[in-house]
Amino acid sequence: MTKIRAAITGVGGWLPETVLSNADLEKMVDTTDEWILSRTGIKERRILKGVDQGVSVLGENACKDLLTKKGIDPLEIDLVIFATVTPDHQFPSSANLVCDRLGMKNAWGFDLSAACSGFLFALSTGTQFIETGLYKKVIIIGADKMSAIIDYSDRTTCVIFGDGGGAVLLEPTTEDIGVMDFLLHTDGSGVNYLNLPAGGSKRPPSHATVDAKQHFVHQEGQAVYKHAVVNMAEVSARIMEKNNLSSDDVTWLVPHQANKRIVDATASRMGLPEEKVMMNIERYGNTTAGTLPLLLWDYEKQLKKGDTLIFSAFGGGFTWGAIYVKWAYNGQ
Ligand code: UT7
Repeated sequence: MTKIRAAITGVGGWLPETVLSNADLEKMVDTTDEWILSRTGIKERRILKGVDQGVSVLGENACKDLLTKKGIDPLEIDLVIFATVTPDHQFPSSANLVCDRLGMKNAWGFDLSAACSGFLFALSTGTQFIETGLYKKVIIIGADKMSAIIDYSDRTTCVIFGDGGGAVLLEPTTEDIGVMDFLLHTDGSGVNYLNLPAGGSKRPPSHATVDAKQHFVHQEGQAVYKHAVVNMAEVSARIMEKNNLSSDDVTWLVPHQANKRIVDATASRMGLPEEKVMMNIERYGNTTAGTLPLLLWDYEKQLKKGDTLIFSAFGGGFTWGAIYVKWAYNGQ
């Protein structure tokens, strides 16, 4: 029997208008444009402002962009998986909200929490529903409103993160293209290095948790950096070996945008020159689950059918992984 693969057949994205530049941050905390740029590669990031504006606004707009570009009726969508660590509510899921607002009445959906690896975990999950032949159109959203959980008086985290998100459409194909392979990992022993201390069932919100600033991201930057450099490089090299891919075979590395230095180390381990590495960290910072679809959104025009893409990410949890994709269409 011919194998059904899941092909990415469209990309949408959306960013809020408000820009938070390094110059702005210099006025808020003890930092400099030079420090931020040299240590992370970030110049500015976007912030979603306004009352009651949750991450679903990012997901909804990214999906709207995708559906409009593809000219698809929302009723055709079977499933929506929303990767995020900043859901609008503990429940219902932000996927529910997006399906409702865009009239995707025949779809069911759920949120998936895997921090910066969220898009990879969601893409591999959605792929299974296509490969079984069960579904014809699955949307994978990756978006985060990091500004909701960042302490803008903590210079070690507030310079890194931003808000934004993207979405891709998965459809079946019998051609030798689409999602070819994935390697995914979790290691819960990393919990103390990067987490949101309170607000969950372990430590519900209270006056004490608010006073102790436990509803903001806690990150031990250097420890996370060391794990990220090793694991992102390792898993990317491993997926290449597993699929007999040389650095010449790889057209693009699509790396999570946490820190330019982590991306450089990953590319170097894979033997890839800078021209083969998608980058937009300078303009958006680290949008957590949003970085990978936003890279595709920015680079879509340069992509050609048959291009070999290696997605790679590392994030809180710890979570990490790589996905090998053969691109399905020529960018417009
Ligand atoms: O996407 C999810 C996964 N997250 C990551 O992958 C993040 C991984 N970590 C990193 O990217 C880096 O560790 C950071 C960008 C967070 C920090 O860079 P670093 O080179 O590891 O800096 P550091 O934490 O070792 O701090 C060096 C110095 C310290 O000062 P002292 O102790 O040497 O006097 C910090 O207090 O830089 C100081 N510092 C800053 N200075 C100016 C920390 N943040 C800032 C800042 N501006 N914003």
